Amino acid sequence: MNLKGKNFLKLLDFTAQEIEGLIDLASKLKTMKKQGVPHRYCEGKSVALIFEKTSTRTRCAFEVAAADLGMHPVYLDPLGSQIGKKESIEDTARVLGRMFDGIEYRGFGQSIVEELAEYAGVPVWNGLTNEFHPTQILADFLTIKEHCGELKGKKLVYMGDSRYNMGNSLMVGCAKMGMHFVACAPRQYFPNAELVEQCRQIAGDSGAIIELESDVNKATAGADVIYTDVWVSMGEPDEVWAQRIEDLSPYRVTADVMNNAGAKCKFMHCLPAFHDLNTKIGKEIFDKFGIDCMEVTDEVFESDKSIVFDEAENRMHTIKAVMLATLTDCKV
Ligand code: CP
Ligand code: NVA
Repeated sequence: MNLKGKNFLKLLDFTAQEIEGLIDLASKLKTMKKQGVPHRYCEGKSVALIFEKTSTRTRCAFEVAAADLGMHPVYLDPLGSQIGKKESIEDTARVLGRMFDGIEYRGFGQSIVEELAEYAGVPVWNGLTNEFHPTQILADFLTIKEHCGELKGKKLVYMGDSRYNMGNSLMVGCAKMGMHFVACAPRQYFPNAELVEQCRQIAGDSGAIIELESDVNKATAGADVIYTDVWVSMGEPDEVWAQRIEDLSPYRVTADVMNNAGAKCKFMHCLPAFHDLNTKIGKEIFDKFGIDCMEVTDEVFESDKSIVFDEAENRMHTIKAVMLATLTDCKV
């Protein structure tokens, strides 16, 4: 299997074997990094990192991974380029494709990253769109393998707004890898029906189970992983907070939820997380709505069931694997 020249835009474009191959490659690169073994396999190449939304993990993961592989990364921030305002995505793609060996894009609609890929002529990697966050899922699955063993058959429950990038991507990833995915949310927050149908078809081959469930106790019983994300995503208007808090508070990950799942269950979150009052938005929400955490309690976030920082570290190893596999002849 050779992924050289391929884009990494969404997991729907990859087979289970390719996803597993990328996770295994990331694991090998992680061991090399820990042992201080140099792996500058992309020496002399350059990559462009376009961020139309803010980032800590994804940006740092791409920059550190690029440096470890011997590459030069160039960061384009949300304001400091011509993208979107004076220059179309098509023209931007044709310019950057002449200068760089690969391009990362974080921004709004999935159609934008797909268009960038169509015209760039070099591999394009999705660093998060409204619809999908595929590099996050590779890191999540590497972390699950490290803590829980094989992916096949594992039950992952996603609690919260399941219609957005994280809910969608986890559902696709679980469908591909033969896992048991449950979207646990009020009905109006279930993933898009068409994508659910597509995932159920994939599940027919992989042995996965795809469920949508509003009852928290039923959904979380026997879970291997409980996963959540912020209730309001980047780019959404502030006006949606009140309704989200009202609708999603029953779906907060609490110690009771973790206990209902069982002793082996791990807690995961793509981060950043609102689990205390140590953030500007967390304080504003407390002043307005009187809640001291949102999608997860501080107790669960800080507990030994929480593997969120292993997950964050794995962003770097998995993004490195994606760049290496798509830029070189490296077999995955
Ligand atoms: N999880 C994640 O993508 O984090 P950043 O927004 O900090 O990149
Ligand atoms: N759903 C979140 C994910 C952040 C990594 C957002 O899009 O803001």
